[in-house]
Amino acid sequence: MWDANKQLASKIMLNTGYTEKEDFFTLGIESSCDDTSIAILKNDVKLCNITATQKIHEQFGGVVPEMASRQHLSHILPLIHEALKLANITLIQINAIAYTLGPGLIGSLLIGTSFAKGLSVALNIPLIEVNHMDGHILAHLIRETEKDPVFNEFPFLCLTVSGGHTQISIVKEDLSIDIIGRTIDDAAGEAFDKVAKMLGLPYPGGPHIDRLAQLGDPSTYHFSTSNLNNYDFSFSGLKTSVLYTLKKKQQENPSIVTDDISNICASLQDTITKYLMSQMQKALSEYKVKAIALAGGVAANSSIRKAFLALGKKNKVQALIPSFEYCTDNAAMIAIAGYYKRNMNEKSGLRSIPYAKNK
Ligand code: KG4
Ligand code: ZN
Repeated sequence: MWDANKQLASKIMLNTGYTEKEDFFTLGIESSCDDTSIAILKNDVKLCNITATQKIHEQFGGVVPEMASRQHLSHILPLIHEALKLANITLIQINAIAYTLGPGLIGSLLIGTSFAKGLSVALNIPLIEVNHMDGHILAHLIRETEKDPVFNEFPFLCLTVSGGHTQISIVKEDLSIDIIGRTIDDAAGEAFDKVAKMLGLPYPGGPHIDRLAQLGDPSTYHFSTSNLNNYDFSFSGLKTSVLYTLKKKQQENPSIVTDDISNICASLQDTITKYLMSQMQKALSEYKVKAIALAGGVAANSSIRKAFLALGKKNKVQALIPSFEYCTDNAAMIAIAGYYKRNMNEKSGLRSIPYAKNK
C-alpha cells in the first residue's frame, strides 16, 4: 500500500516538476535554569543534543540565578559550534530556531532568547518560542533514527514531574495540551530536594535519595500526603510530615538521620511514588487514552519509573518512559516542540519577552 502511494507520489512530482520536499533542520536552544543545551533535528529525528551542566551551584545548595546567567553566556557559542560539527551541517542549512521563552529564571532565559533572536535575524530564518513544560511532554515525539516509527499514541495522559512543576495533562493529536491537574504548592522535585537538604544531602537531592533508597525499607516510616479531590497535588505537607516524624524520633536517637538514612529515603520515595500514581489512576479512570507518558527531571527516579510501567500494565495502556537523556532539561525537547509548532504555522516575533512563571 505504502509503495503504491509512493509510486503515485513520484509520478505526480514528475508530471508537475515538483521535487521531493527538502529536509528541515531545527536548531533548539534551552537555557531556562542551570543547563545550557543545544540540539539539532533533521525533521523529527535527533542529530545531536548536547548540554553543559553547571556544577558551580552545588556548593550553594541551589541555583544562584546570576551565576547561571553568566555560565549560559560563556557556554552557548561553543555549544553551537560543537552541535554543528556533531550534526555535520553548516549554520546556513538551519531552517528554523526553536528556543525556550519560559517558564524559568529570567536572566537565564534572556541569554537563550537574545541569542535565538540575533541568530534568526542574521540567518533570516523563522523563530519559534517554546514553553519549557510543553517541551518536556513533546520529547516523546523525538525519533532517534529514520527507521523508528512516527509517534502515534494519541490521546495520552502525561505526568510531568520536575524541580519546578508537577502536572497531569491530556495531549491530543493536534498537539493541544490541556492541564487537568497541577501542584498547588511545591513540585515533586522540590519535595525530594527539600527533604534531601534536611537530611544533609547535596543539591540536587533527588538522585541522592534515589540511590540511598535502594538500600532501605520503604515501610519503615509513614509520611502523610494531602488527599485532594481533583487531580491536583500538594507536597508542602509532606516536607512538614518528614520534619515532625524525624524530630520525634530524634528524642529517642539524636543521630537517627545518619543511622537510618536509607530507610528514611526509601520511605519518602515510596510515599511520593504512591501519591503520584494514585492521582494518575484517578485521571485514568475518567479519561480514555491510548497511552500514559512520564516527563521531567523526576522521571529519572527508579521507583517512579517502575510504578509507572505497572500502572500502564494494570490499565492496559502503553506506558511511555523517557530515556534519561530526555528526563533532564535538554534542547532536543525544545527543538521537537518547535518543529511541530512550525508545521502548524506557529511563529514568534522579536517582541516576545521571557516569563518566569506559566501564565
Ligand atoms: O526537569 P528538571 O531537570 O529541571 C526543572 O525543569 O526543574 O528537574 C530537576 C529535578 C530536581 O528536583 C532533581 O532533584 C530531580 O529533578 N531529579 C530526581 C532524580 N533525578 C533528578 N528526583 C528523584 N529521583 C531522581 N533519580
Ligand atoms: Zn525542566
